[in-house]
This record gives sequence, C-alpha cells and structure tokens, in this order.
Amino acid sequence: MKKICSILILTLLSTLALTAVSLAEEKGPAEIVLKSTVDPAAKAKPAFFPHAVHQGSLKCADCHHGKSDDGKQAPYAEGMKIGKCESCHNKTAGMTKKLETFKNASHELCKGCHKKLTTEGKKAGPTKCNGCHKKDLK
Ligand code: HEC
Ligand code: HEC
Ligand code: HEC
Ligand code: HEC
Repeated sequence: MKKICSILILTLLSTLALTAVSLAEEKGPAEIVLKSTVDPAAKAKPAFFPHAVHQGSLKCADCHHGKSDDGKQAPYAEGMKIGKCESCHNKTAGMTKKLETFKNASHELCKGCHKKLTTEGKKAGPTKCNGCHKKDLK
C-alpha cells in the first residue's frame, strides 16, 4: 500500500512538473534580446525586450498575430504557432515600407505603444533609442 501511494505521488509530481515546463514554453522566454538577422543593418543594434513584464499587463494579441492565405493579418488565437516577426516582416514579403523589416515593424509596434501611452500620461516603456538598444547587448 505504501509503495502504491508513493508511486501515485511520484506520477502526480512528475505530471505537475511537465505541465509547468510546457506552460513556460508556450509563453516564450521571460527576457529576449531581439536581433535582426534577415535584413540586418550594417552595424548590429540589438534591442532588450522584457517579455514577461509585458505579458503581465498586455494581451498576447496586442503583439502576436499570423497571416491568412490572402496575405492579410490574421488575428491571434490561443494556441496558435507564434512565428518570428522577421519571418513575415522582411524585404521579400512585399509589405509597405513601415512594416517591411523587423526594425520598422518593431519601431511601429514597440515605440508606437510607448509613445501613445506617454502622450496619454500613462506608465510606458522607453521611447529613446538607448532605452531599448541598451549598450553591450549581444
Ligand atoms: C521601444 C524600443 C525601441 C526604441 C525606443 C528604439 N528601437 Fe530600434 N529597434 C527596436 C527593435 C525591437 C528592433 C528590431 C531588433 C533589432 O535588430 O534590434 C530595432 C531595430 C533597430 C535597428 C536595426 C538594427 C539591426 O541590427 O539591424 C536600428 C538601426 C535601430 N533600431 C535604430 C534605432 C534608433 C536610432 C532609435 C532612436 C531614434 C531606436 N532604434 C529606438 C526597438 C527600439
Ligand atoms: C509587447 C509585445 C508582446 C506581448 C504582449 C507578448 N509577446 Fe510573445 N513575443 C514578443 C516578441 C517581440 C517576441 C520575439 C519574436 C521574434 O523573435 O521575432 C515574442 C516571442 C514569443 C514566443 C517565442 C516564439 C519563438 O519561437 O521565438 C512565444 C512562445 C510567445 N512570445 C508567446 C506569447 C504569449 C503566449 C503571450 C501572451 C501571454 C505573449 N507572447 C505576449 C512580443 C510579445
Ligand atoms: C505570420 C506572419 C506574421 C508574423 C509572424 C508577424 N506579423 Fe506583423 N503583420 C503581418 C501581416 C500580414 C500584417 C498586415 C500587413 C498590412 O496590412 O500591410 C502585419 C501587420 C503588422 C503591424 C501593423 C498592424 C498592427 O497590428 O499594428 C505591425 C506593427 C506588426 N505587424 C508587427 C509585428 C511584430 C512586432 C511581430 C513579431 C512579434 C509580427 N508583426 C509578427 C504578418 C506577420
Ligand atoms: C501595447 C503596449 C506596448 C507594446 C506593444 C510594447 N511595450 Fe514595452 N512597455 C509597455 C509598458 C506599459 C511598459 C511599462 C511596464 C512596467 O514598467 O510595468 C513597457 C516597458 C518596456 C521596457 C522597460 C522595462 C523596464 O523594466 O524598465 C522596455 C525595455 C520595453 N518596454 C521594450 C519594448 C519592446 C522592445 C517592445 C517591442 C518588441 C515593446 N516594449 C512593446 C508597453 C508596451
């Protein structure tokens, strides 16, 4: 009986641990250093992105989306595969100038939101270059 109990407990514990790991994976990393690889600038300028901080106050759909068969933006749906921004926002995809690179799409999304919130007098992220492009990022 004792043995059966401990087997049950072990099974339960490992199931819990596995669930925790898969949940953590679905949310992506807590902090990301974003770096252009498809259309990189002559001099690399990586950007610091505290993903978890943003997940705390925003919806996944505020940043993530997909692409429908007709090339239009497809809204975020829970459990969808989350692609790298540059897999769609690159110079060969034929997007408008303001969205045609990782840099432009990010400036539109990231700076755009920070600027809007700052104008509204709300708590926001940095709008100055070195607020995201922190020194010594690799
Ligand atoms: C709110 C965050 C944020 C701010 C503020 C910001 N950027 Fe960016 N920038 C990004 C992100 C994200 C990328 C895409 C990832 C990368 O390559 O760094 C990017 C990309 C770039 C790139 C391309 C880098 C490369 O390696 O190809 C350049 C150049 C750049 N930014 C310049 C600037 C300048 C100049 C300013 C200030 C006028 C600025 N950025 C302000 C987030 C920001
Ligand atoms: C403020 C914007 C923002 C919000 C909100 C956000 N994310 Fe992200 N997320 C990003 C960016 C930017 C990346 C890096 C994409 C890249 O490397 O091209 C990323 C990366 C990811 C990745 C890793 C994808 C990969 O393969 O590299 C996953 C998974 C993810 N996010 C899930 C989520 C989930 C789930 C939520 C909601 C709970 C969420 N994100 C909320 C901006 C955001
Ligand atoms: C699967 C392809 C795909 C991925 C991955 C993707 N996008 Fe997009 N995105 C699109 C399409 C398609 C549009 C619509 C373009 C248009 O209307 O011209 C769009 C529109 C946008 C827009 C303008 C509309 C809006 O919602 O504000 C921004 C900004 C943007 N994307 C940023 C990003 C960022 C940042 C990432 C990574 C976190 C990302 N996108 C990932 C395909 C994608
Ligand atoms: C829809 C709005 C929104 C978008 C999109 C967004 N941010 Fe932010 N960001 C915020 C807010 C709000 C804060 C302040 C969060 C806090 O301090 O609680 C913030 C804070 C930050 C900070 C400072 C964090 C700290 O701990 O001081 C950085 C760096 C940052 N954002 C980078 C980015 C980058 C890079 C992107 C694009 C990949 C991005 N943000 C997209 C709203 C946004």
